[in-house]
Amino acid sequence: MKKISVLGSTGSIGTSALDVITHLNNFKVIGLSANNNKSLLKKQSGKFKPEIIVVGSNGLKNIPLISKADVVLISVVGAAGLIPLINAIKLKKKIALANKEALVIAGDLITGLLKKYPAEIIPVDSEHSAIFQCIDGKNKEEISKIILTASGGPFRNYSKKNLSKVKVGDVLKHPTWKMGRKITVDSATMINKGFEVIEAHYLFEVPYQKIEVVIHPQSIVHSAVEFVDGSIIAQMSKTDMRLAIQYALTYPERKVSTVKKLDLSSVGKLEFFRFSAGNFPCFELAMTSAKIGGTMPAVLNAANEVAVKNFLEGKIRFLQIPKLIEKAMKKHRVKKNPNLEDILNADFETRKFVEELR
Ligand SMILES: NC(=O)c1ccc[n+]([C@@H]2O[C@H](COP(=O)([O-])OP(=O)(O)OC[C@H]3O[C@@H](n4cnc5c(N)ncnc54)[C@H](OP(=O)(O)O)[C@@H]3O)[C@@H](O)[C@H]2O)c1
Repeated sequence: MKKISVLGSTGSIGTSALDVITHLNNFKVIGLSANNNKSLLKKQSGKFKPEIIVVGSNGLKNIPLISKADVVLISVVGAAGLIPLINAIKLKKKIALANKEALVIAGDLITGLLKKYPAEIIPVDSEHSAIFQCIDGKNKEEISKIILTASGGPFRNYSKKNLSKVKVGDVLKHPTWKMGRKITVDSATMINKGFEVIEAHYLFEVPYQKIEVVIHPQSIVHSAVEFVDGSIIAQMSKTDMRLAIQYALTYPERKVSTVKKLDLSSVGKLEFFRFSAGNFPCFELAMTSAKIGGTMPAVLNAANEVAVKNFLEGKIRFLQIPKLIEKAMKKHRVKKNPNLEDILNADFETRKFVEELR
């Protein structure tokens, strides 16, 4: 039995992961974590009997939660994923990484640590799991392009006028995926796709010019890789995160899963369109922050986290999300080559600034 800690066990990825772990039957859950949902955490603890249970972002700093596990699944949402990711790398763990915000805000720091400590990150995000499977250990020089697919979210064909009227309920209806509330809003603003471009850049060490976003409304092709000879290898499956979670846990092996198989003839057609950020300034803001680098991506993320929280609480409108991020980015004085403290300071200051802006 391999020992596993599931960080963010009460979330959308966390609960699916516990389903996968139950199905695989070769993992012993030794650690669980949540933020507020104590009743579900109690239920999960009753079933899996972990030796370590923590709550809140301070709980995620617990070292045995990570040191005692063979595999650490990081499926907390937001910047809270950064400290456990750094600790897991320093403790040379196998890390199944769902949290994307940590790589966005501290990509250089994380990749630097990975060069120093022999930890292993296996992506859980469906697009990155797909890319990981397509690359399959091949030489990086053979990759000519990463093709990151995007469903386009619920408002792909909305005009700016229509976007100004959308309500929380409209945003939470993602056309193809069922996910946590924050990432569902991020998908609707398309900042999620910007985060994913940054995530792909760091995970696969591919320059930004070689990452192309393509709209694929059916979400069957989870992403693809074009190689120098012109071949494109894509990964396809039903839209069910349990597949990517399971692959991250069983890699390099594949095991029978509970996910329904894809019947290609019943899919009928697969469409692909060129992506233009158009009415989705959050995507451009993410790309601008990546280009500027330093502490700017931490500002982008912190401003987005506060704006999304306020939107979900009905305090601001949908189109105010990019406006708040832009204001925070304009105000920030970038620190190049930031250390952890610089990143955490930028995160803290930005949260304060955006909260006060409203
Ligand atoms: N859902 C998906 O299909 C999907 C796909 C790809 C990537 N991801 C990425 O995976 C991560 C998790 O997404 P999700 O959709 O599963 O989110 P979620 O449903 O909102 O779950 C988040 C989990 O993190 C915990 N948490 C939240 N804030 C925390 C904090 N400050 N400190 C400690 N724990 C905290 C939550 O606890 P409580 O339940 O107690 O609040 C919950 O267990 C995100 O980074 C997301 O971008 C998700």
